[in-house]
Amino acid sequence: MIDKIKSYLEDIASANPSGADELESFRLKYLSKKGIIPELFDEFRNVPADLKKEVGQKLNELKQKAQEKYNSVKRSLITEVSSVSEIDLTKPAFPYPEGTRHPISIVRRELIGIFSRIGFTVSEGPEIEDDNHVFTKLNFAPEHPARDMQDTFYIYRISPEESNPGDILLRTHTSSVQVRVMENQKPPIRTISPGRVFRNEAISARAHCIFHQIEGLYIDENVSFADLKQTLSFFAAELLGRDTKIRLRPSYFPFTEPSAEMDVSCTICGGKGCNVCKYTGWLELLGCGMVHPNVLEACNIDSKKYTGFAFGMGIERAAMLKYQVNDLRLYFENDLRFLEQFRTAL
Ligand code: DAH
Repeated sequence: MIDKIKSYLEDIASANPSGADELESFRLKYLSKKGIIPELFDEFRNVPADLKKEVGQKLNELKQKAQEKYNSVKRSLITEVSSVSEIDLTKPAFPYPEGTRHPISIVRRELIGIFSRIGFTVSEGPEIEDDNHVFTKLNFAPEHPARDMQDTFYIYRISPEESNPGDILLRTHTSSVQVRVMENQKPPIRTISPGRVFRNEAISARAHCIFHQIEGLYIDENVSFADLKQTLSFFAAELLGRDTKIRLRPSYFPFTEPSAEMDVSCTICGGKGCNVCKYTGWLELLGCGMVHPNVLEACNIDSKKYTGFAFGMGIERAAMLKYQVNDLRLYFENDLRFLEQFRTAL
């Protein structure tokens, strides 16, 4: 038996399995359960006691040599494979198309950020509304032209004979959320309401049937027009830059008295006059005013004790001023050439 082992030792020393297949046959021949070495261990039981020590040592040596050979060949095979594929850890990962935020989302988030820094919370209301919240409680007279089918998408109208829970419609402005907030909360109220609004308008560069607004509402004791002006001038500086000037022009809205429209100094020429501001130096940004006492009373807020201001602006409009986009339709067409330009504006 000792001679057999010695000759296997020589075989193993000179064996040079190349490749995974040959290495596997080597393993099967010597090391697997039915291989030569386990068989020799079986035979070892019959070795006479006086030879057991010598044979045992040789047998262990054989097993060890076979295992070492197997391990070293296996290791060289693995390094061969990885050196062939040359993994380059500095290469970029496989190209994952990375999305960008829509400019309307970017500006919406920015507007929320600005107002939340001065204590405004965010509230939302339904897009499908009733006449009460969109018009009546906002002090629109029954025959006000804004209720006309021309502007409003009605879902259904209740005829005057029926008991009248109000017409159901798509909201034409986010001022409806003011009403919902005032119905459900006690002053002090300080909230902004971003959302989608709908108007029956022909689509053009300057108008769209769906767009976004953000509404602001502040109700407390002793709120004055000066508070409104300070809030809006802070807002304009945050959105468009420290040098931005604001101007309030008298205007009319049924739900505010007095009412105003706010212009900002032109974001292109800084007020000197250019074709964007039509050489006026000003661009219109939003409507605002002191909440009409009729509106407060319609929402069960005591108009002798409380006053408040409100404002509302188009998010597309704000984005247009900020990014100098001159066509509203671009916001809705999902043209990647347009959207990709906002990649860095997160
Ligand atoms: N709701 C008005 C619109 O859609 C915007 C507006 C004007 C909102 C004045 C207000 C406000 O809260 O005080 O044109």
